[in-house]
Amino acid sequence: MQTLITADAIATRVQEMAADIRRDHPTGVHLIGVLKGAYVFMADLTRAIGGDASIDFIAVSSYGSGMTSSGQVRLLKDLDSSIEGRDVVIVEDIVDTGLTLTYLQDVLRARAPRRIRTACLLSKPTRRRVNVVVDYVGFAIEDQFVVGYGLDYNERYRGLPYIAVVS
Ligand code: IMP
Ligand code: MG
Repeated sequence: MQTLITADAIATRVQEMAADIRRDHPTGVHLIGVLKGAYVFMADLTRAIGGDASIDFIAVSSYGSGMTSSGQVRLLKDLDSSIEGRDVVIVEDIVDTGLTLTYLQDVLRARAPRRIRTACLLSKPTRRRVNVVVDYVGFAIEDQFVVGYGLDYNERYRGLPYIAVVS
């Protein structure tokens, strides 16, 4: 496996993204991590933002297994608390076709948050099938399947501290 983004590069970018999120949310922010892929990014981003972030998690399944998208999104675990009137940032590992995020944004927007924004560590712009707004993007990458830093291939490699390309 080939390293695409080093742990150092990720750490630097996460600090920058946290600074952007802090700037845009001076009164605090409610982060919603999308399980499972975003859990590592979520932990680092939360600590980089500091004390003014509260957190919750939601779980969806968009891929059966392996590398192909089914296009079907299912809600596997809902939030613990209401987001009505809150400033929410969805924290996702990667935006690929955009179907998962579009579904999540629609579901969460219907619950009347004051503001909803989205942060993705990675984006594959050439793979997009629907137009979805991502306010904070860590890295745009080519159309290749990546693992590590929370991202898996059939549940493996989530613990790699860097992003690597599966080949
Ligand atoms: P989308 O609905 O096609 O945008 O897919 C988004 C979801 O697919 C992400 O939340 C990931 O869980 C998964 N995914 C997409 N591309 C990759 C990849 O390169 N590696 C690991 N998971 C991926
Ligand atoms: Mg994901």
